[in-house]
Amino acid sequence: MVKDPAIGDVLVQRDDLAHRVQALGEEITRDYAGRTLLLVGVLKGAMFFLSDLMRRLEVPCEVDFMAVASYGSSTDSSGVVRILKDLDASIEGRDVLIVEDIVDSGLTLSYLLRTLKARDPASLEVCALLTKPERRKVNLPIRYTGFEIPNRFAIGYGLDYAERFRNLPYVAVLADGA
Ligand code: IMP
Ligand code: MG
Repeated sequence: MVKDPAIGDVLVQRDDLAHRVQALGEEITRDYAGRTLLLVGVLKGAMFFLSDLMRRLEVPCEVDFMAVASYGSSTDSSGVVRILKDLDASIEGRDVLIVEDIVDSGLTLSYLLRTLKARDPASLEVCALLTKPERRKVNLPIRYTGFEIPNRFAIGYGLDYAERFRNLPYVAVLADGA
């Protein structure tokens, strides 16, 4: 177990993560019946969510990854996004589901949606594990959401602070003064 004073209160327990991911998997399986899904995981934060979710899907699916960096401080995104790693393959005509760790201001996702929409997928939807509605700066269509969390910096289950704490099996708050 990781012990560190920077790890604050738990926001989402590991059992609740597992149950919600299972429910999302069932919902997505129903919605995409008869189609082949292309999951687009946004690195690195979505890695655990994506791998758990994908194992709950009972429709044919493929996976690809993007890595993006948003210019800004470690806890605030600027909306100016740089693609560090693009998709390996074309998404033209595909049913694409973006899998994100967290939607905060929404600026990163808004950029991703614009970029991917321009590549003519058959459909484009978003599945985000966490959202912080209070912080939203742009209105976005998020088809599937795991949990709404308060306006606190979250770590664990893939989410980092300065690249650390991704390995926590639950989602916690970054403690004050960390
Ligand atoms: P946005 O552009 O403000 O919506 O946030 C973009 C990215 O910042 C997310 O995809 C995360 O990778 C990261 N981020 C935002 N809020 C948090 C947080 O509370 N913990 C960890 N990463 C975060
Ligand atoms: Mg992210």
